[in-house]
Amino acid sequence: MADSITIVDNRSGESIEVPIVDGGIDAAPVQKLLPGIWFHDPSFGATSAAASSITELDGEAGILRYRGYPIEQLASSSTYLEVAYLLIHGELPTADQYDTWTHEITHHTFIHENVRKRFMEGFHHDAHPMGMLVSAIAALSTFYPEAKSIQDPEVRMKQIIRLIAKVPTLAAGAHRFSVGQPFVYPDNSLPFAANFLSMMWKIAEPRYAADPVLARALDVLFILHADHEQNCSTTAMRTVGSSHSDPYSATAAAAAALYGPRHGGANEAVIRMLMEIGSYDAVDDYVASVKAGERRLQGFGHRVYKSYDPRATIIKEQADAVFEVTGKNPLLDIALKLEEVALSDDYFISRKLYPNVDFYSGLIYQSMGFPMDMFTVLFAIPRTSGWLAHWLELLEQDSRITRPRQLYVGVPQRDYVPVAER
Ligand code: CMC
Repeated sequence: MADSITIVDNRSGESIEVPIVDGGIDAAPVQKLLPGIWFHDPSFGATSAAASSITELDGEAGILRYRGYPIEQLASSSTYLEVAYLLIHGELPTADQYDTWTHEITHHTFIHENVRKRFMEGFHHDAHPMGMLVSAIAALSTFYPEAKSIQDPEVRMKQIIRLIAKVPTLAAGAHRFSVGQPFVYPDNSLPFAANFLSMMWKIAEPRYAADPVLARALDVLFILHADHEQNCSTTAMRTVGSSHSDPYSATAAAAAALYGPRHGGANEAVIRMLMEIGSYDAVDDYVASVKAGERRLQGFGHRVYKSYDPRATIIKEQADAVFEVTGKNPLLDIALKLEEVALSDDYFISRKLYPNVDFYSGLIYQSMGFPMDMFTVLFAIPRTSGWLAHWLELLEQDSRITRPRQLYVGVPQRDYVPVAER
């Protein structure tokens, strides 16, 4: 049997045979046969919008690889900064490259004083940190106007380093302002995750020493969240980047896409759901209401994963290590029961709904002391490197501007009626 499909235009009798390559077909020859005919695919369920060599995801088999390396190996042996280098440059760094990369990221963590004083401190005291982060990332473009020179490889790399380095500083700053605490400057002697924890929690001590188990758990969570191919926020990044906006504006757009509860906001929604369920005994009733279509189970389901999300397995292991230090999160038992009930129920089995990365990450963040409205911010910190890897790839591919077609379903032409006659 040929690995191809034949498309016949019954109006003209003309036909073409289109090869199926890697599970997909190229739209270009089809468009040649059928000029003026468009594919209608809202939400891109059947459309590949990019050729990418960054992340490989097989949702049926539960496989996730960055640049060919299995996520399990990276989570157990690598660091977030090494993974960020891998995503951006395509290869793991040598020891020298890693030292230089770490030095460069570490020495770009400070933000301009005016970003803090004039901009971040201008938000209302109860501003959501994610809203602050989105705006602050966009504001950085006004501090680095040279970022517009997107065709210059050196300028590009400088902005990539600045963004990976400064987003944690903005993130921690957003939290500190939202709870009325003074801003903590980065401590360049600390590793990436420990430095972020210092900016979050330091009070009056000369140096904040994060618990090493918690710092490592956070670093692993950063690795798991660093990229996930053409998800909603990455698609936003590539779409905005395709118009040749500067990387700060494109990253702000991506972060805005991440903010929603169907995407990066789900980790916060999971904790709110577990609190709403309230007790172990209430799980069955809650699942019944999900099956009745009254609500969705937060942290369950995925557009691409149709088996267990491999990130959820690793997060579950990290949760055990974190709870050894912090004590067990009281919501864990509800979460475990919910998972057990859902995974044995035909509603979830038939729809291939499994826990995703957000089902357990919120429990870890909460146990580590992060307020719920910081959860999505914690997702944005590492995803910044993934977004930027896609931005770089898009520019290197010299992609055309993203401009889908639409199916017009509005009223046909009609004549204007003066207001007095309406
Ligand atoms: N709870 C109950 N039913 C669900 C859920 C859920 N969480 N997710 C999907 N379904 C059902 C849905 O009702 C539909 O059923 P039917 O065929 O009877 O109409 C079927 O499963 C297919 O759902 P869909 O809406 O077509 O799936 P989608 O691919 O468009 O949506 C999703 C994917 C992640 C938005 C969705 O599963 C969801 O809303 N999950 C809860 C939010 C969540 O956990 N988001 C985090 C995603 S992972 C991290 C990230 O991407 O940031």
